Amino acid sequence: MNAGFGRRMNRRDFIKLLAAASGTAAGGYLLATYAPWLDYDEAALEARSVFEESSMDEPMRELIRYATMAANGHNAQAWKFAVAENEITLLPDQSRRQAVVDPEDRELWISLGCALENLLIAACAAGFDAEVDYPDEQESVRVKLEPGSPLQGPLFEAIPLRQNTRSKYDGRPVAGEDFAKIEGLPLDPGVSLSFASTRERLTVAADAVYSSTLQQYADREFLDELIAWLRFTRKEAMATADGLFSRCSGNPEVPRWLGKRVVAGMKPQQQAQADADKMRSLAGAVVIASQEDEPAAWVRTGQVYERLALTLTSLGIQSAFLNQPIEVAGLRGEFQSAMGLGDALPQLLVRYGYGPALPRSLRRPVEQVLA
Ligand SMILES: Cc1cc2nc3c(=O)[nH]c(=O)nc-3n(C[C@H](O)[C@H](O)[C@H](O)COP(=O)(O)O)c2cc1C
Repeated sequence: MNAGFGRRMNRRDFIKLLAAASGTAAGGYLLATYAPWLDYDEAALEARSVFEESSMDEPMRELIRYATMAANGHNAQAWKFAVAENEITLLPDQSRRQAVVDPEDRELWISLGCALENLLIAACAAGFDAEVDYPDEQESVRVKLEPGSPLQGPLFEAIPLRQNTRSKYDGRPVAGEDFAKIEGLPLDPGVSLSFASTRERLTVAADAVYSSTLQQYADREFLDELIAWLRFTRKEAMATADGLFSRCSGNPEVPRWLGKRVVAGMKPQQQAQADADKMRSLAGAVVIASQEDEPAAWVRTGQVYERLALTLTSLGIQSAFLNQPIEVAGLRGEFQSAMGLGDALPQLLVRYGYGPALPRSLRRPVEQVLA
């Protein structure tokens, strides 16, 4: 018979049992929250596996996979792809739109443009000639594909390597030859680049980032929407394979209840100062602007951005967005004139420079983005 059975538990035994139980519960809680057995980095790499001859049995699938590696707002992946014979159509996924930060779907269409650019580069690498119909009343982007000759260049190779690197940069300037490549980037009709490489322009941009971030972080609705797309642990990130995972922004993994408190309780000045400092610690920044504010112009803007980001990646240069002065509607016009853009409408503010890479973001599998 078990000696413990039948014996009355004294106070000391009870405390010991409680400690053991709470230790187990805490361990269980930590394991359940952090799920250390899940290999996040492996999943992120897998999402970016490169084109292989064998995978070309299903070329359309591979082209879509390459398209989904693109930059996109909040990593919401608000896109869908419809496949027909010799044709892929990109459509917005309205269920993933961000009504607060992007009420006109401007950034959503820019994100579709980023995906389109990857798709076109990958199609060319796989041996297709592509023709694009830009969105009109159809509200979609159609890509017709015909057999052509394969052409793989540095931008194609950069697709799985590109990332939005939110770390601080070291301030080293980009060498003349590399800068010439960025400055000479081929542009789409109606889209322009405006470089802020002087100290004065960077200070103007940093001030605009400061005041717009203050406004965003004082807005409860903005914070709620942001928190909905934040993934505080690898378990959360891997469950949805979307959103903004803490480690991709250089933050530690924490349980959701704590992460929510930290973000919601953050002083707007604190976040504004951190982002303005990032703007000051870099080689340069560039505003991407367009003549029009409508879906076709936004798609073309996204294409130019993705091309720029891939070019920077191919040169070993990091980049990231600080779009707040454009996202806050009341400050966009002020930013436009402060940056000397004339009548060109600012769409994206991109900082670039040299700094440490961060963990990569995840993507949903192709099956989940088919229309
Ligand atoms: C239109 C658009 C707007 C974005 N705005 C911001 C931003 O203001 N701040 C930021 O840190 N990242 C921004 N991003 C970057 C996305 O969060 C990033 O692309 C996404 O999380 C996927 O990560 P990856 O680019 O490293 O693959 C934006 C991306 C796009 C396409």
